[in-house]
Amino acid sequence: MKINDQQIKKWLLAEGENQQRLFKKARSIKEKIFGKRVWFRGLIEFSNICQNDCAYCGIRKGNKKPERFQMSWKEILACLKFIQKANYGSVVYQSGELTADLFKDYLLKIVRLTHQKFPELGITISCGEQDKKFLKALRKAGATRYLLRIETSNPKLYAKLHPQEMSWPKRFQCLKDLQDLDYQVGTGVMVGLPGQTIKNLIGDLHFFVENEFDMFGVGPYVIHQDTPLSKDLKVQQWWHQNKKRNFNLFLNFLAVLRILRPKVNIAAATAADVFDSLGRIKVLQVVGNVIMPSITPKDYRDKYLLYENKPCIDEDAEKCYDCLTQKIIHAGLIPVFGEQGNSPFYYQRKINV
Ligand code: 5AD
Repeated sequence: MKINDQQIKKWLLAEGENQQRLFKKARSIKEKIFGKRVWFRGLIEFSNICQNDCAYCGIRKGNKKPERFQMSWKEILACLKFIQKANYGSVVYQSGELTADLFKDYLLKIVRLTHQKFPELGITISCGEQDKKFLKALRKAGATRYLLRIETSNPKLYAKLHPQEMSWPKRFQCLKDLQDLDYQVGTGVMVGLPGQTIKNLIGDLHFFVENEFDMFGVGPYVIHQDTPLSKDLKVQQWWHQNKKRNFNLFLNFLAVLRILRPKVNIAAATAADVFDSLGRIKVLQVVGNVIMPSITPKDYRDKYLLYENKPCIDEDAEKCYDCLTQKIIHAGLIPVFGEQGNSPFYYQRKINV
């Protein structure tokens, strides 16, 4: 579909009846491909150790408050057994970004063992920027999908939100490497970042389409008090005053993405629940076809706070299973178990190359 920037802008700013019309269009496109089905992936946040200092993130290296952890293989195995019992078709391993050899060896071991013991599970990795050789080894060990949000497609805005050592071109190159290695590649941005314009968001959508990503994780930006961004009082005030606007912008952004890319997987980001207790469900009703319930053990959840008011931190995997399946069924959607849920766009892309 050809993108007309004027139309996209109208959609992004839609309210009231116009917004409902936009949602209806996005929903009908989504349902043509996925029906009312929602794929489940068990999310294991296995380490909060991070070498980066992103200005928005609660587990940034410079924040000394959270106690740092790395789950043992025994703990991870218990999570995998839960995933098997719940019959979620995939596991997502997420952590802070670390490029130390010790960490890389450990991650490789986790992926290898997971693939050996649970060959039917889809394995997704979300552990930041890594070098191509290592990504190749992970792919060989059984990982088939990788999530790496570009955070913003605009290198100038990126530079404002990240320390000098982090480079937009390097991040982009990592996404290209992943595509080259035949991963299903997921990316995304945060919507409602301080300093982010409508033009930036239109640029993000172009970036997504031009680079042919298979999966998306897009979430609303949420303030965290122990980060440099929230120390700016203007940002704090702006964020609190624009919560409703930003949540709407986030939903509209995803609706446009679905219109532009009918066959991609779109996950309902947990951060949506900060704005509305049914945030994730609203995403699934309009555009999303993937949910990633947390399997992270209760003891670690309050140490993995990327943003404030993260939901479900006093819950365990069982509770998240019950709560989300009930909410999904109540919303007229169908939880799907026992399927890996690969991106249909990935297969289409493979036929075309
Ligand atoms: N608000 C919303 N999302 C955040 N992330 C990190 N910090 C925040 C925040 N304050 C997102 C980033 C990252 C993903 C794992 O979590 O987009 O890629």
